Amino acid sequence: MTTGLAAIIVHGGAGDIAETRAPLHVDGCLRAARVGHAVLHAGGPALAAVEDAVRALEDDPLFNAGRGACLNHEGEIELDACIMDGTLRAGAVGALPPFANPIAIARCVLEDGEHVLYAGEGAARFATLHGFRRLATGDLRTDAAVERWKAVLAKKSEPNWAGGTVGAVAIDSSGAVAAATSTGGIACKRAGRVGDSSIIGAGNLADDEAGAASATGHGEPIMRVCLTRFALTRVSAGRAAQEAAEDALAELARRTGARAGIILVDRAGRVGHATTTKTMSWAAITPDGEGAGV
Ligand code: GLY
Repeated sequence: MTTGLAAIIVHGGAGDIAETRAPLHVDGCLRAARVGHAVLHAGGPALAAVEDAVRALEDDPLFNAGRGACLNHEGEIELDACIMDGTLRAGAVGALPPFANPIAIARCVLEDGEHVLYAGEGAARFATLHGFRRLATGDLRTDAAVERWKAVLAKKSEPNWAGGTVGAVAIDSSGAVAAATSTGGIACKRAGRVGDSSIIGAGNLADDEAGAASATGHGEPIMRVCLTRFALTRVSAGRAAQEAAEDALAELARRTGARAGIILVDRAGRVGHATTTKTMSWAAITPDGEGAGV
């Protein structure tokens, strides 16, 4: 049973979702938050909760992660993901060829423990050696991803837009935190590009001394300001999760002019979410109940 602090918040990416489609994204986030919360409710660890929540979002073709991931310049899928617990154990993959659940491979990297981040074909080799099945781009490609790719190639849509990245952060009943983030990156990115979602302290961070955070938005500016580390530094300075989320996005805008979104849980079990884009779907389950929005 859930005790004490247990809480989870997930996001389905910062961007500009059409009003008519927003309820679908909110429902997807709520389903994923419930998957993660079931782990916490049973007394499970935050690390398993965020992995399961992100897997649910990767399996949902609405989101830019796993099935539904955006296409790179060559029309291929390359995936980024990172998972971390508050003891600073971490695993990540970058520019990973198509696999159904990159976050599960990142978890396997964490458990293996020898390295933190594998990229490209080396990441694929690590995954297949550990029993994960490599897929073809066509197995994960959706019509929506193809449409967006064509629109960016034809310069009818903003390039470098990263709507739909997914993430989850949680605190369990023992007070341990974890964060997980997964994405297809940005539409029409160059082959081999690795974004913030793979990078500790940029798109994903957990630290039992502060909390956990997951970011979404254009990865290059997020990496430049180490956005999630900035947010957790604000928590360490005494800011609550919501204030720290807002501080981080203000700093990103001040230093780079970029817009983004972020979710956060602090070690007191308070959750926060903020975006400077038009929309960011999110859902949270805390001892106070469920909340969701866009
Ligand atoms: N935040 C997702 C990306 O830029 O890759």
